[in-house]
Amino acid sequence: MNIFVPLAYYHQGTINGYTAKTAPIFMPNTVGGYMPGPRDFPGNAAFPNNSTTIVKAIEHGYVVISAGLRGRSLTDETKRFIGKAPAFLVDMKAAIRYVRHNQQLIPGNVEQIITNGTSAGGATSATVGTSGNAQFFEKYLQELGAANESDAIYAASCYCPIHNLEHADAAYEWEFNNITDWNRVQMVTPPHETTPPVFKKINGELTAEEKDNSKILKDEFVKYLNGLSLIDANGNRLSLNADGTGSFLEYVKDFIEQSAQKALDSGQKISADTGVHVDSGVVNGLDWDKYLQFITRMKGVPAFDDLKMQNPEPNLFGDGKTASKHFTKFSQSNSQVKSQLADSDLIKAINPLTYIKSADGQTAKYWRIRHGASDRDTSFAIPVILATLLRNAGFDVDFAMPWATPHSGDYDLRDLFTWIDKICAKN
Ligand code: DHB
Repeated sequence: MNIFVPLAYYHQGTINGYTAKTAPIFMPNTVGGYMPGPRDFPGNAAFPNNSTTIVKAIEHGYVVISAGLRGRSLTDETKRFIGKAPAFLVDMKAAIRYVRHNQQLIPGNVEQIITNGTSAGGATSATVGTSGNAQFFEKYLQELGAANESDAIYAASCYCPIHNLEHADAAYEWEFNNITDWNRVQMVTPPHETTPPVFKKINGELTAEEKDNSKILKDEFVKYLNGLSLIDANGNRLSLNADGTGSFLEYVKDFIEQSAQKALDSGQKISADTGVHVDSGVVNGLDWDKYLQFITRMKGVPAFDDLKMQNPEPNLFGDGKTASKHFTKFSQSNSQVKSQLADSDLIKAINPLTYIKSADGQTAKYWRIRHGASDRDTSFAIPVILATLLRNAGFDVDFAMPWATPHSGDYDLRDLFTWIDKICAKN
């Protein structure tokens, strides 16, 4: 773990009104693709890093703590896997407990810890944010020798969190069922020290089997969504019809229309190819199918728990000896390789939604969730469900889908820090 304290705090100075005692503690992680997320530092040239974020956060007056987290590819000297789920969360929690345990030594306010991450790192932030002191993690934390302290946090900042994995396949087909070709970039050379990874573009068509599976998964999502009993800002129940249309779809579209309006208001142009209807500078409709054709499909079917277990997610659910496991009954029963189903308690425990309404797991009061309006890595439904469940449970959620923004994070640090300053001034 690396700890960075603005120098001013060692000279009784203040930055943006914060002192060594009152500065919020900002904890970004470098997790991506559920791979190991090493501890980070200003000027870090290795991959992955968020070193610019760290520099800006220190300059803004936050105490910044960057903990190294294990990930799915990690092995020990005997080639045993040592970073499968739930290791990333256990390590993040252990880091938070350590900070609390040493609060007399480390500057910053332990009552205002804010986590931050992108994609799998956004999921890390979200799950740590909902599961403070949850029972499931206790034995792992004891095993690790973590301090006997609370790991509950004040706020979570999550960029495009790839979470709710066991429902993400169904959500993806609810969104992309009509689109039968996909395109994405594939890593051909992994990063090495300071050399960035090399990617190539690949594309393909869904097979007949994938098209059949897409329909089955889409139907599954309708049932799942209707079982959540989500409520919109006006107190109306959000639901879906058997064909995937309904108030939940309109609710998702509304976030995208708001995003387009904000972009228009700030002087950006919106192409008619997006399916956004603009009348005299006002967005007054969205052609959903056209919008999806515009952003295009990225993944095959199933999008996460793929039947050959080549994706990051089955690999996250492996164990010491097993590289990958399925985590949905659908993929386990349709698997094209020899496979096992991951433990249901584990699948549930790494899903941030599990804790929101539960007495087990203390949920952070404040949330900032961003998911780009061009992000195709997971369905829009996934972050929308997270934000809505949190709101429905009474938490304070700042949620938006920035226009023309792909799968990425930390692109609006100034706004993120304004939000942090606002929520930290409340107490
Ligand atoms: C990430 C992206 C994905 O599309 C995915 O399935 C898992 C993780 C990431 O960028 O962390």
